[in-house]
Formats: sequence, C-alpha cells, structure tokens
Amino acid sequence: MEVIALGSDHAGFHLKENIKEYLAGLGYKVRDFGTGSPDRVDYPDFGIAVGEAVARGECDKGIVVCGTGIGISISANKVKGIRAAACSDPFSARLSREHNNANILALGSRIVAPEYARYIVKEWLEAKFQEGRHAERALKIAQYELGNPG
Ligand code: RB5
Repeated sequence: MEVIALGSDHAGFHLKENIKEYLAGLGYKVRDFGTGSPDRVDYPDFGIAVGEAVARGECDKGIVVCGTGIGISISANKVKGIRAAACSDPFSARLSREHNNANILALGSRIVAPEYARYIVKEWLEAKFQEGRHAERALKIAQYELGNPG
C-alpha cells in the first residue's frame, strides 16, 4: 500500500486529522509531518516538509491542508519534482492525477467540508496518470525546473 505524507498548518489541522483517519481506514500508511495542534504556525514549514518527503521518495504521495489550500500548495511546489494541485472539487482532483501527474493534493479547510474533502481525496488517490501527451507536457515542466527548457 502507498505511503501518504500529510501536513497542515493550524487552519488545516482538524481536516488533516480527519483525512488521516480516513486514509488509515482505507489501509494507507500515513506519515504525519504536522502540525500537531491548532496553535498558530506557518504553512510553508509543512508544505515544504511534505514536498521534500515526496521528492526524496520517502512517501509516494502527499496531502497538505491550509485554510485555502493555496499557500501550502505554493510552498510544496517550490520543492523540485513536486506537482502540487490545490483542488476543491473531485473532478479537478481526478484530472490533476490523470493529466498533470500531481504528486501532492492540497485542500482548503475553509473551502471544503470534511465529507467532501474525503471524496476529493478518494478520487485523487484512485486516479492514474494517463501518460502519452500528458507525459510530454509534464516533461516540459520538469525540464524547465532543471534549467533546461528543452
Ligand atoms: C492562515 O490563516 C491562512 O492564511 C493559511 O491557512 C492559508 O489559507 C494560506 O494560504
């Protein structure tokens, strides 16, 4: 079973805990990079920690949560090799895997209700990258990231 890295700031703490329980119930292994309470923290610390764990291959995928999903996805996307998608609906979440090979899903605790977030997570985890033309586009992004725009 895949290992999923989890991270959130204070705003995302309760939703992260909810998702953690959901993933455990589905049989996933989870590595929680914090935060560990609703006390105020800074989302970049957690987005980057999850991004590094996924980029290093210690975890297969990551799920990060902040108030909107935006700040923590921007942070995770600064790590080389990370394709973090902030999604607030299951269709975008599915396509972020199928077309963009997103390796991190970002959720906004102030945007999506917990039950809906679980549905988004399920869609995202079940979807598979479709390769082909999508792989060529993903490669362009990777080449740019490595300083070699083709
Ligand atoms: C924290 O108040 C909030 O700014 C943060 O959780 C997130 O929404 C940032 O993008």
